[in-house]
Amino acid sequence: MSFLEVRDLTVAYGSIQAVRGVSFCVGRGEIVSLIGSNGAGKTTTLRTISGLLRPVTGEILLDGEPLHRLPAHKILALGVAHSPEGRRLFARMTVEENLRLGAHTRRDELGIAADLERIYALFPALGMRQREKAGLFSGGEQQMLAIGRALMSRPELLMLDEPSMGLSPIMTRRILETVRELRESGTTVLLVEQNALAALSLSDYAYVIDLGRTTLSGTGTELLADPRVREAYLGDGVSS
Ligand SMILES: Nc1ncnc2c1ncn2[C@@H]1O[C@H](COP(=O)(O)OP(=O)(O)OP(=O)(O)O)[C@@H](O)[C@H]1O
Ligand SMILES: [Mg+2]
Repeated sequence: MSFLEVRDLTVAYGSIQAVRGVSFCVGRGEIVSLIGSNGAGKTTTLRTISGLLRPVTGEILLDGEPLHRLPAHKILALGVAHSPEGRRLFARMTVEENLRLGAHTRRDELGIAADLERIYALFPALGMRQREKAGLFSGGEQQMLAIGRALMSRPELLMLDEPSMGLSPIMTRRILETVRELRESGTTVLLVEQNALAALSLSDYAYVIDLGRTTLSGTGTELLADPRVREAYLGDGVSS
């Protein structure tokens, strides 16, 4: 059984159908990516898994149990954390205050303190600036903070929406290397990326979402070699 299974999901904003048939599976301990163009429905899919949006039809199962009728805080408590597109940090709050927001469902102060240390070890740039305000940070540092905040709930499934957005190639590599390390420490990762090359290189399995539907899937290596993926998402031009 898959750890996360999304079946025939459809989601709408009023009369706008944003997701029209998305299905995919994530196995425990895997990195699975969703790739697709702007407006394909990737963010909407993650927001629906988190319980921020309700599906019109379809099912979302975690370890076989339905998630799609639960409120967002229950989904978080079941071990699903979400680092949202655009990071959504609190600029006037410090690094530590932002990280603690990710632990708001927890009451174990000792465990929270240990996890803060773990995140400072994972991202030394944050550890050195614990009392500084998040708004002063570079894009890469803010992304580290957004991932760190999501990790503060000790998730079993970490969903990352465009972690490389706006980052330099070096910083992108650094963030994606951290994703690999998280998988090695047992966290399952669902990754949404515009940077298809980076995402596919890292992924055990990936799905292409096109106009609200999952259209192709395969291992990262298979999709990197697929001419349809190369042409649409990896910038291989058709020669004229
Ligand atoms: N709050 C909203 N209200 C109305 N329509 C929305 C809203 N958010 C997204 N949409 C529409 O839903 C569709 C899917 O958007 P979504 O943000 O899920 O795409 P995406 O794949 O994450 O795109 P991007 O790569 O640009 O982040 C788009 O057509 C978008 O315009
Ligand atoms: Mg998006």
